Amino acid sequence: MIIEDIALAKNILMQGNLLAIPTETVYGLAANAFDVAAVAKIYQVKNRPHFNPLILHSNSLERFTHWGIHLPESALLLAKAFSPGPITFVVPKSDAIPDLVTAGQDTVAIRIPKHPQTLQLLASLDFPVAAPSANLSGTVSPTSAQDVEAQLGPQIAAVLNGGRCMVGLESTIITFAGGIPKLLRLGGLSIEKIEQVLNQTLDKTMLINNENPQAPGMLSRHYAPQTPLYLDAAENHLGEASYAEMVFIGFKQKHPKIIGSNQIILSESGDYAEAAQNLFAAIRKADTLGKKLIIAELLPEENLGLAINDRLKRAAVKAQI
Ligand code: TXA
Ligand code: MG
Repeated sequence: MIIEDIALAKNILMQGNLLAIPTETVYGLAANAFDVAAVAKIYQVKNRPHFNPLILHSNSLERFTHWGIHLPESALLLAKAFSPGPITFVVPKSDAIPDLVTAGQDTVAIRIPKHPQTLQLLASLDFPVAAPSANLSGTVSPTSAQDVEAQLGPQIAAVLNGGRCMVGLESTIITFAGGIPKLLRLGGLSIEKIEQVLNQTLDKTMLINNENPQAPGMLSRHYAPQTPLYLDAAENHLGEASYAEMVFIGFKQKHPKIIGSNQIILSESGDYAEAAQNLFAAIRKADTLGKKLIIAELLPEENLGLAINDRLKRAAVKAQI
């Protein structure tokens, strides 16, 4: 059920039920974080491994402080610049937060999403919500209420409609657990912007790559469509499929051989933010065309191109697993 009413949304959460909420990044599957039975439903509905912790969402830093969660100086600097916005802070956990939310870790991830309805909803609650992306574990994150409804509709109480997500990629995650800030996940806020505010280069040694999934949840194959997706040249796949049986996801330019109706261009003007906003819908659409395979083009490794490429690589078929 897709709803518009924030009072109804609040009731659903207060009763311990699951509500999908809009954010600027992707839709989240929210539950009262202090209600362990409600949080357990998140893992169950998403089919999410229990070792993969959830992000806490609320509407202000003061509220997190009230729940015993404190940000170090550098995190405060970033929060001041970018929150509400597409950034998540991993910091020491407090006793108020149930272990199920953090999957037993002694750190907790917190975020203030930038979305008017959701901020209004969060402000009206006397608890934070735990909210992973509102998709089945391992599949593409939803960027519209309809995406959520199509995949999880019957299993959750409602989806609060907040339109299409403006950013389109999950938040950038930084951990402050070890003292200096370290990047954990590339996301909707570019590294360049973060480094500018920190006035130093960000430690990327914890960044999870496909060979080294060290943080929970950062499994290499994620965001995966049903149709095999490849990142190399279409020509290499002519043994498996003709050009008519391929779909192309490109940055700004069409593929010269693949037919027009099978092409999805992320941003004709070459705008990274627009490309990010369109990425997950493009992967979904490519999948529904029901062709033999998808060819996707990697973007330049800068700005949001880095995060977009990260998602494309996780969506791709691996040569060896
Ligand atoms: O933009 C977003 O971050 C969206 C919206 C809904 O806010 N949420 C989201 O949640 O992408 P999810 O659960 O799909 O991804 C959160 C990631 C997971 O990979 C999880 O392992 C990591 O954050 N994470 C959560 N808590 C953590 C912690 N304490 N330490 C390290 N990683 C953590
Ligand atoms: Mg997710």
